[in-house]
Amino acid sequence: MFKQFADKLNNSKKIVFVTGAGISQESGIPTFRGKDGYWRKHDPMKLATIDAFYDDPKLVWEWYEDRRKNIRSAQPNAGHKAIAELEKYKDVVVLTQNIDGLHQRAGSSKVLELHGSIIRIKCTVCDYIDSIPNSFDTLPPQCKCGNTLRPDVVWFGEALPQDVWQEAIEHANSCDVMIIAGTSLVVSPANTLPLYAKQNGATLIEVNPDETIMSGDMDLSLKTTSASCLPELLPFIKNSNL
Ligand code: APR
Repeated sequence: MFKQFADKLNNSKKIVFVTGAGISQESGIPTFRGKDGYWRKHDPMKLATIDAFYDDPKLVWEWYEDRRKNIRSAQPNAGHKAIAELEKYKDVVVLTQNIDGLHQRAGSSKVLELHGSIIRIKCTVCDYIDSIPNSFDTLPPQCKCGNTLRPDVVWFGEALPQDVWQEAIEHANSCDVMIIAGTSLVVSPANTLPLYAKQNGATLIEVNPDETIMSGDMDLSLKTTSASCLPELLPFIKNSNL
């Protein structure tokens, strides 16, 4: 699959991955807009906005608790593991829209969580932030300051954490290969990251069984799944004379 980019991959110094829900699909976690995606069954405006949270915090928390249980029982797949393995040979950075922590569980050390993390909580008022306890006595849980706690994730209409976003742009601007795996690229500003890389002359490789709005802008668009495809990258990175 990657033969035509063998030299580019092998000579690359820095590889940046931009990932989305599709890379965790083969770990049993639904995507959002795919066939059995969350947004096919639920209205995102009722579950993933600050207004929805204030309208019905218990409903929103129950939904995140369900997702968290599913994520806790899931395992990183061959796609996550291949990216972690690549760190042995190249400077690899993962810019993920996923809140599931599977890249880190696979062993990736440089992961920027653009949309936060389902295993962190924060207060809606004070600056309390912490990793999530195993369970809560009541939903919605309360902060010690008396206000309501929320999942530390980015909801529609909310800004990304600016420090994380600025760092993500720097990585996109300084990579020579960007691999975009498992994202529909419909959500901004994450979907601008390939543009930064392209402007920097990077090679863009997409891994997605379906067409995306940027497939035409890619140097290589592989219509397959990430768990079956990304492990095939390793030989091109490990050993250039293949
Ligand atoms: N391997 C690679 N790609 C896959 C796989 C797979 N096994 N299975 C599905 N895909 C692709 C789909 O074809 C689709 O293009 O992954 C993409 C998933 O797209 P979305 O469901 O839109 O998820 P994502 O791009 O991560 O959504 C972005 O939207 O809902 C918000 O905050 C949420 O972070 C999320 C953001």
